[in-house]
Amino acid sequence: MARNIEKDALSGVETTGHEWDGLKELNNPLPKWWLYVFYVCIAWSLVYYVLYPAWPLGKSHTTGVLGWTMREQIVEDLNKAKQAQSKFTSAIAAKSVDEIQKDNELRNFAMAGGRTMFNENCAACHGAGGQGAKGFPSLADDVWLWGGTTADIYKTIQHGIRADDPDTRGPAGMTAFGKDGILNAGQIDQVSEYVLSLTNRATDAAKATAGQAVFEENCVACHGEKGIGSVKAGIEVGAPPLNTASWIFGGDKATLMETITNGRAGVMPNWAKRLDDVTIKQLAVYVHNLGGGQ
Ligand code: HEC
Ligand code: HEC
Repeated sequence: MARNIEKDALSGVETTGHEWDGLKELNNPLPKWWLYVFYVCIAWSLVYYVLYPAWPLGKSHTTGVLGWTMREQIVEDLNKAKQAQSKFTSAIAAKSVDEIQKDNELRNFAMAGGRTMFNENCAACHGAGGQGAKGFPSLADDVWLWGGTTADIYKTIQHGIRADDPDTRGPAGMTAFGKDGILNAGQIDQVSEYVLSLTNRATDAAKATAGQAVFEENCVACHGEKGIGSVKAGIEVGAPPLNTASWIFGGDKATLMETITNGRAGVMPNWAKRLDDVTIKQLAVYVHNLGGGQ
């Protein structure tokens, strides 16, 4: 086809001869920088073909003179990662949770592993970040049922609470004062007002005063004087403090009365049955660092 080459009057550049509705295509040369980059790419790809695996050959491929393969690289990386981990895991196996806690490198490793394992095994009940939910205590505050030292937390995770385990925590729970006929409805009302008064929320001062006597007679043995909680009172029964805003089941009057009437016995699984010791130690470090560890 004959090409109709002409110069564009305005720019002085030749046209390619292509024309659409009166618009003509200019035949500008490629920019120099673009051409050089293009040549460098070609040269680079030639060197690459020689050194690295490149061309497919049916079921195999050219291997390149360096003999490098991605598969070997992955195996090597995995082995390196395993070796690096085993250094940490064997140190964790040999140390107490407290010692792990005091070693910066080990603590960082345990925190990362503990976070993953927590999300997998514990968050369903305790919430992501351990913030808790109704019936499942927060692990991120400084209120503890069974103690917040690393050793306490480690033992709780290992053997659970009221779990099927000879070393489990418990086994008694919160007494069902109403159902078991120990207190009548009036006394339960009074003692609930007293419990409300511990966080300055009593609505009936006379009932709260009467409730104090009921509390001292029936509750102090487990919850401690003024409801400071069994951990602070040094009693090993897992009774929570009643003078903080942190409730397991709820601190409104109706829930308090329900708890005192029917009792409570939360169950925490014993994890030694399901997780290895190194994992449980990492979890203990993680939980201890959630915010409330002692
Ligand atoms: C099936 C639900 C459930 C799962 C899953 C669970 N927990 Fe618990 N956990 C509980 C309950 C319920 C309690 C409180 C028991 C009670 O009322 O005394 C508890 C209590 C605890 C306590 C004691 C808190 C204190 O104040 O002393 C710790 C620590 C704890 N859990 C850690 C964990 C860790 C770590 C995991 C994961 C490995 C986990 N829990 C998984 C239900 C669960
Ligand atoms: C035998 C020991 C024991 C006695 C006595 C006892 N408690 Fe408890 N109480 C517990 C335990 C253990 C729990 C925690 C139960 C759980 O976590 O499942 C608890 C939980 C509670 C809770 C729930 C707190 C929350 O965070 O939701 C309230 C409220 C309470 N007790 C009030 C009382 C009152 C009031 C009395 C006296 C009338 C009393 N308790 C007597 C052991 C006791």
